[in-house]
Amino acid sequence: MATNIFDKLLAGVETTSAARTHAIARALGEALPPDATLALHGDLGSGKTTFVSGLAKAWNIEGPVTSPTFNLFTIYKGDRMLVHLDAYRLKRAEDMEALMIEEFLKSPWCMAIEWPDNIEDWLPPDTLHLDLAVAGRSSRSIRLRPPHGQ
Ligand SMILES: Nc1ncnc2c1ncn2[C@@H]1O[C@H](COP(=O)(O)OP(=O)(O)OP(=O)(O)O)[C@@H](O)[C@H]1O
Ligand SMILES: [Mg+2]
Repeated sequence: MATNIFDKLLAGVETTSAARTHAIARALGEALPPDATLALHGDLGSGKTTFVSGLAKAWNIEGPVTSPTFNLFTIYKGDRMLVHLDAYRLKRAEDMEALMIEEFLKSPWCMAIEWPDNIEDWLPPDTLHLDLAVAGRSSRSIRLRPPHGQ
């Protein structure tokens, strides 16, 4: 029986290339509920931006997904709206409120957030938390935290 992507990520996966990370992210993107927030936890180079680039493929978003560090967030439009936010320079939930990102959201959307701990209080309760880590030169681990309260 094919394991679904949520079970697979809950168990934790090891990817050996950026292309594999793209494929995993794409599979998750295709399985996400209509309006979803993803918190991507992990150190520098753990593959957060690479993951978002894979997500974009799920919704036929063309063009490269690059790090939004200098403009805080980037909005991509495809079959679903993808908002890629880098919270690295944000310090509090109030910083996030000032951005008024909700104003731009049009269902169905996905918000993918790098450095989510900086805006922890702002995150919607149904946020999916993923932990990414460097496991080797071109290997990375990706794991989905169990949903809240489980
Ligand atoms: N298995 C893999 N999965 C993802 N990226 C990989 C993998 N193997 C090698 N890489 C490389 O690791 C780098 C990951 O960079 P990326 O920008 O995605 O990380 P990041 O977590 O967003 O870092 P930052 O915190 O600086 O934004 C890329 O250069 C990518 O090509
Ligand atoms: Mg990044």
